[in-house]
Amino acid sequence: MRIFLDTANVDQIRQAKRLGVISGVTTNPSLMFQAGRADYRAAIQEICAIESGPVSAEVLSPEAEGMVEEAREVSKWAANVAIKIPATVAGLEATSILARENIKVNFTLCFSLNQALLGALAGAAYTSLFVGRLDDIGHDGMELVKEIVEVFNKYKLSTEVIAASIRHPLHCVAAAKAGAHIATVPYNVLMQMIQHPLTSIGVTRFAEDWQRITRAEG
Ligand code: G3P
Repeated sequence: MRIFLDTANVDQIRQAKRLGVISGVTTNPSLMFQAGRADYRAAIQEICAIESGPVSAEVLSPEAEGMVEEAREVSKWAANVAIKIPATVAGLEATSILARENIKVNFTLCFSLNQALLGALAGAAYTSLFVGRLDDIGHDGMELVKEIVEVFNKYKLSTEVIAASIRHPLHCVAAAKAGAHIATVPYNVLMQMIQHPLTSIGVTRFAEDWQRITRAEG
């Protein structure tokens, strides 16, 4: 499973890149707002300069024609931009047009197997399942990821499944076990993934014991 960073905060992206574990970035208007980035184009281009893997940028038009126009424009901003298109009727139409133009689509705001299947058939490169939001309303988001991966494998669909709306480290474990191709994680969750109290205790103890040896020898 690959890991993308789910943020529009360039400091977080730079920091995560230094760790060598992320291979893409996903953004959306809410994340742009949280990062204080009203300069949409500049923000996407700055992110694409830091991350050479896919960087997802969302379009906002409600109709297919507008989505396609926006997507064509945004895809000129950088070579590695993927266009987030919502899982709606208009989104399907836009996805099929953009796929024929070799513009990578991240079919987003997916909450069902049918939506993901249709997005894949329309030619989306990625489909984003918002597992946290499904969990919020009492559904098992990660079970859905598992089912979609199984169906895509069964019918040899090449669309990659992104486990999105990740809220905590256990979601990452579950996404990996479910066979998600990618989990897109917030920065704080990425930091939590590497933490283990026994590692911290072990590092401290090794340092203390090394001090004891060097003191004894001195
Ligand atoms: O990748 C989608 C993500 O940004 C949505 O997360 O926490 O708003 O459901 P959340």
